[in-house]
Amino acid sequence: MDKERESFAGRFSVIMAFAGSAIGLGNIWRFPYMVGQYGGAAFVLIYIIASLFLSLPIFLSESVIGRSARSNAFGAMSVLAPKSRVWKSFGYLFILTPMIVVSYYSVIGGWSLDYLCKACTLGFVRTDAANINEIFGNFISTPWKPLLFHVLFLSISILIVFLGVKTGIEKFSKISIPLLFAMIVVITVYSLSLPGAREGVEYLVKPDFSKVTPATFSYALGQSFYSLSLGMGIIITYSSYVSKKENILVTGFGTAVSDLLFAILASFAIMPAVFSVGIEPNAGPGLIFRTLPFIFSKMGESLPYISSLVAVIFFLTVLVAALTSSISLLEVGVAYLIEEKHLSRKTACLVVYLSTGVLGMLSSLSFGPLSGVRILGKPVFDFLDAFSSNILMTAGALAAVIFVGWKMNKKVVRDELTNGGSLKMNSGLFGVVYFLIKYAAPLAVIAILISDFIG
Ligand code: PFF
Repeated sequence: MDKERESFAGRFSVIMAFAGSAIGLGNIWRFPYMVGQYGGAAFVLIYIIASLFLSLPIFLSESVIGRSARSNAFGAMSVLAPKSRVWKSFGYLFILTPMIVVSYYSVIGGWSLDYLCKACTLGFVRTDAANINEIFGNFISTPWKPLLFHVLFLSISILIVFLGVKTGIEKFSKISIPLLFAMIVVITVYSLSLPGAREGVEYLVKPDFSKVTPATFSYALGQSFYSLSLGMGIIITYSSYVSKKENILVTGFGTAVSDLLFAILASFAIMPAVFSVGIEPNAGPGLIFRTLPFIFSKMGESLPYISSLVAVIFFLTVLVAALTSSISLLEVGVAYLIEEKHLSRKTACLVVYLSTGVLGMLSSLSFGPLSGVRILGKPVFDFLDAFSSNILMTAGALAAVIFVGWKMNKKVVRDELTNGGSLKMNSGLFGVVYFLIKYAAPLAVIAILISDFIG
């Protein structure tokens, strides 16, 4: 089986693929808002510490599982704990979670595709706030259009996955990530040049320790968790395509830094523009689909073509960021079906495409005709989002660190993280990394779980 397995070409390819999964809607619509809301530079500092000392060890645990088993996320648990039913059931969790997530993630991906089309046809020129709210409200509640764009978005994603690990995922990520960085830098420079941008910069950089409460730590950790795509079998699956010669400590660190850098750049691209037109920043889809189009229309009063160009670049950034993440979510199920159910990549893609497509339709319709259908009091979209990010992903991440810290043989873990002792620096760091995996990360995840239940 090992011979047939595809693998990423080298370090750059590995980091680009992982960064593709990490950099997504979470960096654009949640992080910038959280920074301002929870204490500016003080929050960024807490976020960096949480990412490096807690989320990165979880990432490394998933990497250890994936690369040592060289198997899909379900198969990895069966290979490493062949006799245990409990661990096998976590294997199923790793497959199920990304399938649920991609179904509704692709609905938002579809919205960004539609908004890119709107931007290309100068749709935000000479409109006002009321009009933009109406455009958004009408769009998400009329059934066929968001459905069509959801299907279109999912079709593009599955096509990339169908092309395979090297020709599809690796190639697409290697082009997309540098492009995403280039585009976000262009928007940042433009945003910082707007009159009144200073207030937005202050909102982001002024450390305000009075806003830091115990809950801030949980929010920072939760966000870095979400952003690095942990607890969903993605890192396990992608790591199974990483060569045995690669230094997974370095690729993990490179991914965390790229993800952080992009989130910070996105903050400086968005907040100065938000403040420059004098509106309140808020998180969630509203920021991307209501607030920003309003900003583009405001800017367009004096410079319609430049603002339309910025709008096109912005929605292209959102779309590409969503695509690189959705392919990583889809690959988990596809790899499972190929290796465990012996389907061809084509059939596996078709099965994943149809199942996530149909589930996504329910999410999409929950903004319109199905808005009355509630699961535990929430519309389908909101329920799936909350259930997967608060419960399934957290449980998956906890399972991964406990598995590596408490179930796997320490020598196997050491060999994986140090390439059999040949990486001297990693050998020196192993004690610290292992401590973080075994004690610090599980405790932190349990703390998040508890705070989710309470709050
Ligand atoms: N890490 C990506 C993001 O921040 O958007 C992908 C992702 C993570 C999607 C977690 C969905 C999710 F629940």
